[in-house]
Amino acid sequence: MPDVVLGVCGSVAAYRACDLARDLMRAGCTVRVCLTDAAQNFVTAAQFEALTGQPCLADTFEEPERGRMAHIDWARKADLVLIAPATANTLNKVANGIGDDMLTTLLLASTCPIVAAPAMNPAMYQHPETQSSLAKLTSRGVLFIEPQEGDVACGENGQGKLAANREIVEFVGTVLCRSKLLAGKTLLLTSGPTQEPVDSVRYLTNRSSGKMGVAMARAAKLMGAEVTMVAGPSQAIAPRDVTVVPVQTAKEMLEACRRHVASADWVIGLAAVADYRVAGAAQTKIRRTEDDLVLTLTPNPDIIATLASENLDKTVIAFAAEPGIDPEYIADKLKRKGVAAMAVNDISNPEIGFGSDENELTLYFAGGAVAKSGRRSKLACALWMLEQLAEKL
Ligand code: C5P
Repeated sequence: MPDVVLGVCGSVAAYRACDLARDLMRAGCTVRVCLTDAAQNFVTAAQFEALTGQPCLADTFEEPERGRMAHIDWARKADLVLIAPATANTLNKVANGIGDDMLTTLLLASTCPIVAAPAMNPAMYQHPETQSSLAKLTSRGVLFIEPQEGDVACGENGQGKLAANREIVEFVGTVLCRSKLLAGKTLLLTSGPTQEPVDSVRYLTNRSSGKMGVAMARAAKLMGAEVTMVAGPSQAIAPRDVTVVPVQTAKEMLEACRRHVASADWVIGLAAVADYRVAGAAQTKIRRTEDDLVLTLTPNPDIIATLASENLDKTVIAFAAEPGIDPEYIADKLKRKGVAAMAVNDISNPEIGFGSDENELTLYFAGGAVAKSGRRSKLACALWMLEQLAEKL
């Protein structure tokens, strides 16, 4: 049974740690909770002891077992330390090596993986000091579950909400049993939609959320790869340790990929690239008139097919959103694009279509093998797919 220390800091979201402790236990972990002083304004040690059946540490000099220094003892036993919610104060302290309470001393003494799920006011999250701590901790191997955008408790709107408990539990599970199958590999991903200008204010785009691309980037990082993601405009928040190259149009996406492809071993095309762009897009705003407006659309390059034909030494993998699955059509498309494999999802099912949190992939290989993921979260689909690719390519 994996041993997880759950460090709870003084954010309003501390109440969510009560459910989180139980969810981690349901997922098979032994959970021992450590509270900061500020956390005790929101939740209590008694609450966590009742929920977990384990002692809960709050005071630096507490020793549930006499003669055993708890911060060292717990750090030694832990398979993973999860800080959730992680506040700006605790993250800034840990980044600077400060150990002035039980949680921060325990973190200094820990050699196991550390995962942090920040939750704070959006301005505090964006503060240069916090951002530099996050960068420093990332470079030391701390894994982050990025906070979500939305309304936060203080009434503001922005990035700062604690990630969903389900996402945190899944992330912890993945870290605990991650394989390092992709260590030493570099992946180039395309992700999100493209936007094709009509004039200086309007554009054509599609419903891609970019979530599958972000899930693939996270899965690849967890499996030890280096990842560059050429991403069209999207709200999905990329993991901090992924190099993101933002682009708008299909042409920009192709150029960015060409700049980064040399260092890649695998190229995976997750982007929903616009198949057409507006020929001769207007440089200024097109004024409204009572007449019909006719736009001429001209085909965009097929990025993934172009990259496959220009880089025969690279392994190129495509995605395909299909309105129903026709194996013969897929086999032909695989050949046409010149890719090693193609992951197909059926967008006629709204539960796994654009923008949803789950997916269901059928992976077709150029050699004829076929594998099905079953319905899972996008992160689980990505992990499954990378394992399949590592095994079969
Ligand atoms: O032909 P279709 O759009 O269904 O192909 C999907 C696959 O091809 C995806 O991997 C997508 O990223 C890629 N693609 C591309 N450039 C395009 C169109 C699709 O790279 N212009």
